[in-house]
Amino acid sequence: PEHLLIAPSILAADFARLADEARAVEGAADWLHVDVMDYHFVPNLTIGLPVVQSLRKATTLPFDCHLMIDEPARWATAYAEAGAYNVTFHAEAATDPVAIAKDLRAAGSRAGLAIDRDTPVEGYLDLLQHFDLLLVMTIKAGFGGQAFLPELLDKVRTARRHVDTGHLELRIEVDGGVAEDTIAACAEAGADTFVAGTAVYGADDPAAAVRKLRARAAA
Ligand code: DX5
Ligand code: ZN
Repeated sequence: PEHLLIAPSILAADFARLADEARAVEGAADWLHVDVMDYHFVPNLTIGLPVVQSLRKATTLPFDCHLMIDEPARWATAYAEAGAYNVTFHAEAATDPVAIAKDLRAAGSRAGLAIDRDTPVEGYLDLLQHFDLLLVMTIKAGFGGQAFLPELLDKVRTARRHVDTGHLELRIEVDGGVAEDTIAACAEAGADTFVAGTAVYGADDPAAAVRKLRARAAA
């Protein structure tokens, strides 16, 4: 497909050193993936708007904000205003996804739609023309470090066919368990954008880990 993008997930970084951890992948990574969780949509709590606002000043990397929160219509545009390059929210949490996409674009960011492990993609294909990115979870959303679920790549294949036949300008991102041994299958299924937390920040040299992932995805 298109140019492949690697987005390290800051969720796997040392939260006491977020600025340094972001800078550690500058020059190697394309985007920085920022996982926002609210204890409600998922049973975990991570970082929110104040941290995104502060971290925005600390790195040149574009932010790929992944909102795992209830009421995205209420909160999503604030992340765009905080300088996120892309803001992705969950289909399961939204009553009118297209309206949120329009709000995000009006607020200056790109718009992403995420589908969790148990959500089929078919019901959302007709909405994709309003989005810049589809995030297909390859785990159940909520925690880093989980095992990759290869059966979820069928959703990537379905989305890829829809995007190619409709000539849509849409990135297809995978998130969860993406690592050196799983990224090639993701690329083969049609993903062009790859989130990796543990595989990057669990490595001794995060920038080198990003370069290895990119090489595996392109192989
Ligand atoms: C989990 C997050 C992921 C997470 C991935 O819900 O959306 O972005 O950071 O972590 P790994 O790469 O360790 O599975
Ligand atoms: Zn994520």
